[in-house]
Amino acid sequence: MLSQIKTLAEDLAPRLIEIRRHLHAHPELSGQEYQTAAYVSGVLSSCGLHVQEAVGKTGVVGNLKGNGAKKGILAIRTDMDALPIEELTQLDFASCKPGVMHACGHDVHTTLGLGTAMILSQLREQLPGNIRFIFQPAEEIAQGASWMVQDGVMRDVDSILGVHVFPSLQARSVGIRYGALTAAADDIEIFIKGESGHGARPHEAVDAIWIASQVITTLQQAISRTQNPLRPLVLTIGQITGGRAPNVIADHVRMAGTVRSLHPETHANLPEWIEGIVANVCNTYGAKYEMNYRRGVPSVQNDVNLTQILENACREAWGNDLVELLPEPSLGAEDFSLYLQHAPGTMFRLGVGQPDTVNYPLHHPLFEIDESAIITGVVTLAYTACKYWEINQT
Ligand code: NI
Repeated sequence: MLSQIKTLAEDLAPRLIEIRRHLHAHPELSGQEYQTAAYVSGVLSSCGLHVQEAVGKTGVVGNLKGNGAKKGILAIRTDMDALPIEELTQLDFASCKPGVMHACGHDVHTTLGLGTAMILSQLREQLPGNIRFIFQPAEEIAQGASWMVQDGVMRDVDSILGVHVFPSLQARSVGIRYGALTAAADDIEIFIKGESGHGARPHEAVDAIWIASQVITTLQQAISRTQNPLRPLVLTIGQITGGRAPNVIADHVRMAGTVRSLHPETHANLPEWIEGIVANVCNTYGAKYEMNYRRGVPSVQNDVNLTQILENACREAWGNDLVELLPEPSLGAEDFSLYLQHAPGTMFRLGVGQPDTVNYPLHHPLFEIDESAIITGVVTLAYTACKYWEINQT
């Protein structure tokens, strides 16, 4: 099966590069993936898949039936949206839309989903189980997965695979991780309400700006003194506004930030823990407060059994030198975790780094990939799916 998949992928390579370049040149922002969805739908239909459009607003689902020996569905999820970034590469196929760029490699992900569908549709007689290809919109705004799940894409799905490109890994290599891959990311907004007064007479006022600074400082210190240092927690206040004039004590401050954590217990307790600190500081200095805590996407926790199937498939396909067990998770966030609330899954990192050159990070206007990674990604997904159906006796 592996050599068959590799041969099919090599034959498809020029077509896949053409697809990737087309998608790269025509990026669409989150929730506006109309052209991309139509394109994806066309390719999936030409492979004989049963295609559903307008799933999760602008998402697409392709169902591939195996030979019927086994029941159940393995899902493969890729995302399709681009970012509001002005592309600065000089590539022939650079974005033709001003201010919009595939700077997170979702053009590559979409290509991987299509390439895997092209290959597995040719092997369907040998494929015991079914595959559902999920082409998700709006990952960059952490909305698309929830739209897709609401529209029922996880119905009857037993397991799910995901992939993200990774420029700090060399192309042709694959990064695998057991357990936590990305963090839970929540949003926080805090209002401090003091009392205005003359800048020269602080004792007659309640200085909201100074109290806000105490809140921030206390929160940062409390992380280091009251949270388990082996369970990462990052709290970043990225926005703060307040005050009207240099000589007027501010009566009002708004601050907003992001809270990243990995451990479920840490995550569960965050709203109460943060509010306790905000309340104590404000009470001490006579201010009132309001806090809005919004749960974002949970942490991606890769399932042990599926990750083992993935790792075995990769070692067989690429040899040990190209398979990297990632030593650390990321505190970035990924809405792939929302699918994992419905079925176990695993997400891997696909090396796209180019040798002997600067590899710009994701979301950078000069981000570019080594296109040889496309074959690695497609073969990895297709072969892992085959190994999954070999092993899984549903
Ligand atoms: Ni991304």
